[in-house]
Amino acid sequence: MSLSFEGRVVLVTGAGGGLGKEYALAFAERGASVVVNDLGVDTKGGGKSSAAADKVVEEIRAKGGKAVANYDSVEDGEKLIQTALDEFGRIGKLQCFFCINIYFSFILLSTPDLIHRVHLRGSFLVTRAAWNHMKKQKFGRIIMTASAAGIYGNFGQANYSAAKLGMLGLANTLAIEGRNYNIYCNTIAPVAGSRLTETVMPPDLVASLKPEYVAPIVLWLCHEQCQENGGLFEVGAGWIGKLRWERSQGCIVRSKNEPMSPEAVRDQWEKICDFTDSTRPLNIGESLQSMVSVLSRVDGGVGANPTASAATTSSAEAVGQKLPPTTFSFNHTQSILYALGVGMSTKDSDHLRFLYEGHPDFSCLPTFGVIPSQAAMMDGGLGSVPGLNIDFTQVLHGEQYLELYKPLPTSGIQLCYKMNTYSGKELVCYNQWSVFVVGAGGFGGKRNSDKAKVCVPLLPPPKRAPDAVMIDSTTRDQAALYRLSGDWNPLHIDPSFAAMGGFKAPILHGLCSFGFAARHVLKQYADNDPSRFKAIKVRFVKPVMPGQSLQTEMWKEGNRIHIQCKVKETDAVVLSGAYVDLQGASEASPENLTQGGGLQSELVFAEIGRRIKDVGSELVKKVNAVFGWEITKDGQNVAQWTIDLKNGCGALHKGPYSGKADVTFTVSDDDFMEVVQGKLNPQKAFFSGKLKIRGNIMLSQKLEVILKDYAKL
Ligand code: NAI
Repeated sequence: MSLSFEGRVVLVTGAGGGLGKEYALAFAERGASVVVNDLGVDTKGGGKSSAAADKVVEEIRAKGGKAVANYDSVEDGEKLIQTALDEFGRIGKLQCFFCINIYFSFILLSTPDLIHRVHLRGSFLVTRAAWNHMKKQKFGRIIMTASAAGIYGNFGQANYSAAKLGMLGLANTLAIEGRNYNIYCNTIAPVAGSRLTETVMPPDLVASLKPEYVAPIVLWLCHEQCQENGGLFEVGAGWIGKLRWERSQGCIVRSKNEPMSPEAVRDQWEKICDFTDSTRPLNIGESLQSMVSVLSRVDGGVGANPTASAATTSSAEAVGQKLPPTTFSFNHTQSILYALGVGMSTKDSDHLRFLYEGHPDFSCLPTFGVIPSQAAMMDGGLGSVPGLNIDFTQVLHGEQYLELYKPLPTSGIQLCYKMNTYSGKELVCYNQWSVFVVGAGGFGGKRNSDKAKVCVPLLPPPKRAPDAVMIDSTTRDQAALYRLSGDWNPLHIDPSFAAMGGFKAPILHGLCSFGFAARHVLKQYADNDPSRFKAIKVRFVKPVMPGQSLQTEMWKEGNRIHIQCKVKETDAVVLSGAYVDLQGASEASPENLTQGGGLQSELVFAEIGRRIKDVGSELVKKVNAVFGWEITKDGQNVAQWTIDLKNGCGALHKGPYSGKADVTFTVSDDDFMEVVQGKLNPQKAFFSGKLKIRGNIMLSQKLEVILKDYAKL
């Protein structure tokens, strides 16, 4: 449907010629009542005439449109708005709205003062005059006309550039202040032939760069359907592009208690200016927050305890942000402290291997794997995510997924990146955190992540009575003890803080109950052997109070142990949709897979198999292809897989496809893992010969649907 401006009032400043005239004609043609403002000056800003505006008004009226002239300077903003109100404001048609196109010539020879007065101050004054009317009617669209000269700078145009970028600053703030009133403000930097550009451009270019190639974006940005706000667009010749800020990762150039020096800045200059992994701050909060987090990272002082952060809003910008890499060192003290925190006790002799560093089988509890990544989040990590300003009294841990690739060491230095945890260079575990911030929103997306839901399904336990139940009491000081492992959120210790979060008393950490449940499974089904532990997923449903007893109900289905955890005293379910996957044994899950063989890719295929079981028909619809895989090791073909997303509800099986697969990939076990973990770009792998593809190569794009999610699982 075409965009109509029927019943709307549009004020176009500087509309007696050039771009402004084009806008005025275009708005009028689509039904708007147009105030054609123009002071009628010459190209140096001198003189004054009503002719320019009158001619445009005549042209509009001749075509049956509605227009009225205004000959005031934009410096008399109130008069412009008064004309609009007098002529059109009370005609009773829908609402009145203003498109303010602040719009003047390159007055190259005039004084900086005039340039600033007309472009910058004029924009401000007209906007201010219109502002309250827009607020009252809860609608307004403002377009500022900036210039590439301001965005990029241009020789000889210092005064003009300064004024033009000043208009962008004005627009940025108006966009924020107007947002709640449905007043949106955007900025364009046009290029078009006009009486001004004809002095600096060859005539054929002036003729070709028609003003009518600029007007359509102005109309769209002014239309009520358009929800763009605070944008900056370059436009000309029929092309439109959006601009935004990009910021390098930057670099901290000072150390705790050391003076900061220009030499340190010089020495890090390359890094400061390196745009690899750059970010795109969208607002001042993001800009500031990353700096404030530096204070905690360097000084451990202001902002050091992110749990004390003030409440603000969460926003879409946080989505997809990467946490910086952090280092976490620990020794046996931390792993023992953690074991105590999740209820291990010397009264059980088989707990000793987790509590006594001199024990011949001294081990770290597998669920300790959450601690390094938690440290990364707490230690400024979460606080440094742009756009994520959290009230920590309102934070509830929602879900947790942990997957171990090897048994955890009992001491070491671990590097957390994203939520992969390495011991040295070896990937030891992967964590997926999901945190609910009560009452927060504004992420601009769905409340649930498809990735979490689809890749790590939350399965209900089987309907039969549990195969095993274990009960353990927590102590009154369980939370006080558990927090020493690194979750310093006062919600778990400080009664007044807990009250702010709506709790009667400090609650137990969800991850503490998680540790209890995991060790129950480990004891019941794996002889407390940490090397049997593969992965755990839980959803935190209700809080547990320190001192209550935790009852873990378990159902064994192959190597997957479904669990549900309740508070024994109240029968309230506290962990649900949960399971622990144990490492290989003959009864692999899903049933049709042969586990083992020492290939890392087996785990991925097992996960793909689970996904196909859950959402196979959905994938068949999306993908409609059969993929063959040949996994190699040391140059030998060691495994073949078929992912059939063409027939029935989809299927995965080990071995070649009975017919001809649509596309077949040959890749080594190691490279396969690199690809699925997002470390190796599939295209690069293909071009470097690491990934060979036979068949319909275009179908590889659809693999994303299956593999990419796994990588972020
Ligand atoms: P233009 O000179 O053809 O039109 C400007 C109009 O503004 C003139 O009719 C003039 O009489 C009027 N005007 C000047 N001072 C005024 C005042 N104090 N109050 C009311 N009206 C006044 O210029 P053009 O090329 O159409 O440019 C329009 C806007 O676009 C300007 O803001 C300019 O800085 C901006 N711009 C234009 C570019 C281009 O390629 N044409 C490039 C970048 C920015």
